Amino acid sequence: MSVILAIESSCDETSVAICNNGKITANVIANQTIHENYGGVIPELASRVHQQNIVPVIQQALIDANIDKKELDAVAFTQGPGLLGALLVGVSFAKSFALALDLPLISVNHMHAHILAHFIDDPKPEFPFLCLTVSGGHTQIVLVKSYFEMEIVGETLDDAAGEAFDKTAKLLNLPYPGGPLIDRHAKLGNPLAFKFADPQIKDLDYSFSGFKTSILYFIRNQEKEQSNFIADHLNDICASVQHSIVRILLQKLKKAAAQYGIREIAIAGGVSANSGLREGLQKAAEELNWNVYIPAFQYCTDNAAMIAIAGYHKFLNGDFVGQDVAPLSRMEF
Ligand code: KG4
Ligand code: ZN
Repeated sequence: MSVILAIESSCDETSVAICNNGKITANVIANQTIHENYGGVIPELASRVHQQNIVPVIQQALIDANIDKKELDAVAFTQGPGLLGALLVGVSFAKSFALALDLPLISVNHMHAHILAHFIDDPKPEFPFLCLTVSGGHTQIVLVKSYFEMEIVGETLDDAAGEAFDKTAKLLNLPYPGGPLIDRHAKLGNPLAFKFADPQIKDLDYSFSGFKTSILYFIRNQEKEQSNFIADHLNDICASVQHSIVRILLQKLKKAAAQYGIREIAIAGGVSANSGLREGLQKAAEELNWNVYIPAFQYCTDNAAMIAIAGYHKFLNGDFVGQDVAPLSRMEF
């Protein structure tokens, strides 16, 4: 029997979940809307808001799971990667909470947890599988051999896919985070209205920096000729950018699947909420006879349920850390 409380605070969501014998019984997420006006997450503000939110979010999670803190068996937390000040709030709270209740501590890698979110509900992928993890800070193709053995076989050399969405949105005067808004406008536009060149990157790696710059120049040039270009073509620009990002992501994923001879394919991370990527993956699955695993929306973007499920498997494995544990803004995969 195990009841695990998990804390996620690596970026701008304060989240606490409870996992009771492998089942998620609470997953409370407090979003920080304060960053919307700044075009990106302000680390200092994120830490402050985590400080304000952490106690009420813990209390709500205990209420939702209908348990008392005395019934807990362990405390799991995101050790990294993420914003140091933001992580520090969750890590410090986890340590004090575990010390006060005399509970063991479990450290979780945020990127592993995005992948292990696939083990919250059915159907669950079979090992080994490939997971395209696409978030605001990462773009990785991961060969997942077991709950604890994972290997990055391809990754971005510069910007992440989520950044490409968010920075394009900023150019289009949309608020942060722009990914979901681009998705919404894309549904109303023509994906073939504008063409953007694919980055030419070797192996299974990605690059989105040049792609982002090409969009910047494209918009500037069009605006010179037509002052209302963005407003008049917003849906078509969003649809075309999204179509290009999805095509770039899936090209390398297909290459990886062929190279490793794997047909169990998953996506994870915030950008896996994107409707274009979800549809594109389904299409690839039909073409290539893949079994695909797409997370439920609430487990795509940052949440503590994924930390709790990762913590649960570590608990079963007896993998605990001491009170000297510290947050890591860059954490080894
Ligand atoms: O995994 P996540 O919540 O946080 C990180 O660990 O980075 O991912 C956040 C990223 C942001 O860049 C956001 O714009 C993007 O996920 N995102 C989306 C969508 N929903 C979230 N991008 C495209 N389409 C979406 N529907
Ligand atoms: Zn994340």
